[in-house]
Parts: sequence; C-alpha cells; structure tokens
Amino acid sequence: MAIILKAQEEIEKMRISGIALRKVHDTLAPNVVAGASTMDLEEIAVAKIAQLGGTAAFKGYHGYPFALCTSINDEVVHGMPNKKRILKDGDVLSIDCGVVIDGFYSDAAVTYAIGKPEPKIQKLLDVTKASLEAAIEQCQVGGRLFDISAAVQEMCEAEGFGVVREFVGHGIGRSMHEDPQVPNFGPRGKGLRLKAGMVLAIEPMINAGAPEVKVLADGWTAVTVDKSYSAHFEHTVAITKDGPLVLTR
Ligand code: MF3
Ligand code: CO
Repeated sequence: MAIILKAQEEIEKMRISGIALRKVHDTLAPNVVAGASTMDLEEIAVAKIAQLGGTAAFKGYHGYPFALCTSINDEVVHGMPNKKRILKDGDVLSIDCGVVIDGFYSDAAVTYAIGKPEPKIQKLLDVTKASLEAAIEQCQVGGRLFDISAAVQEMCEAEGFGVVREFVGHGIGRSMHEDPQVPNFGPRGKGLRLKAGMVLAIEPMINAGAPEVKVLADGWTAVTVDKSYSAHFEHTVAITKDGPLVLTR
C-alpha cells in the first residue's frame, strides 16, 4: 500500500468531517457523568451522527457493532458500550469515535475522569493529552514519521508510563485506515519524510503501569495486563505547508 496524499479540496472535505466529529464529542462531554451507562453515550452519539448527516465509521468495521468504543479504567481501547456499565466517581472513560461525511473519515478520542481521580491518574490523562499535542507539533513538512512517535514516547516514558505497542495511529482519508502506521514509539530523526497532503490519525494509548495489553474473550476489549489504568487521546491531523492542521479540534 502507498500513502495517499490529499489535495487542498480533499483536506477541506476532511475538515468538514472532523468538525462534525468534534460536535459529536462535544455533545457527549456533558453526559459523561456518574450514573450514566456507556450505552447511554452510544445512543447519544448515534443520534448526533444522524443529525449531522454522517455515518458511524466504526459500526460494521470488521463486525464491530457500535459507533463508539468506550473503554473504562484498565481497558485500553475497543471497549464496547453496555447498558450495565455504569460510570462512577473515580473512573476514567475513553471515548473513541469515527464518522464519515461525504466519503471522508475522521477519527478522534478523548479520555475523561469521572469525579475526582487519584493524582497519578489525573497525571496520566494530562501527560497523554500533552504527548498528543507534542506529536502534532512534529507534523511538519520535511520532518520524519518517527519524530511524531518519539514525541509521544519520550514524554510518557519520562513519567514512568507504559506506551502501548500493539495498537498504532494511521493514515486516514476515504478509508479509516490508510498507510502509514503511526506508532507511539520510535527513533527520532528516522522514518519516512512527512509531506504536505498527508493526513494522520495520531492516537497515544498510554498505561499508568506496564505497556503490555491483552484482548479479552469478546474479541475486542483490550486491557492492561497489570490492570493499571489507561488513557487514549486522538486527533485527525493534516500536514500542510503552513504546519499541522488539526481537523478534529
Ligand atoms: N480509533 C480506532 C482506530 O483507529 C478505532 C477503531 S475501532 C473499530 O482503529 F471498532 F472500528 F475497530
Ligand atoms: Co484511530
């Protein structure tokens, strides 16, 4: 597979998709409260995506049945909405969502704390989010792919957090997953040269403890092996001659 560069008009369309996805996340945010179930959030997302004239990107993807991935505490990614999973104070919840508008995908994730988390967990969320911003800063024409990866790895490992290896970011466009893969670890100064028109979904998945993960018997839910909590933030980012353009901001 080759990397598909996007023309200006295509990036404009992807921006429309990204803005719609941001509206979905903004609609969900005030509903991420103790007492809500993750299925409540799924229903809100499904209604909002329909209202925006979009399609849920994850639903049907390799048989995945929902619009959202809702991953609680030691769940890293691909947790499934469930009416029996009720949020409570001290939980952390990552919500990952993708939409398709006019043929173009966008993909973004946010991790929330419910109530007041332990200081170490709040730090996990803050550092993971900051590592995504540091990675976005590396999205410069002429830079290298693993500059993005190293930005995440260096910041998170400096805090003693575990960088997940088994799941990675990705190119995105008329498909949810395009080349290149965008790992959250790698050697600075190496990897392919970044070009204007590349669009990447950058998504650090960071554990409070060790990096190892395993997938549960449902075939989807990835959890930390040591049961430490995990955080996930994601943006869809276009590389332009004027620098990074965050389409899902
Ligand atoms: N953000 C994830 C990804 O890029 C979400 C995919 S979930 C799936 O791969 F259910 F659609 F697989
Ligand atoms: Co993604």
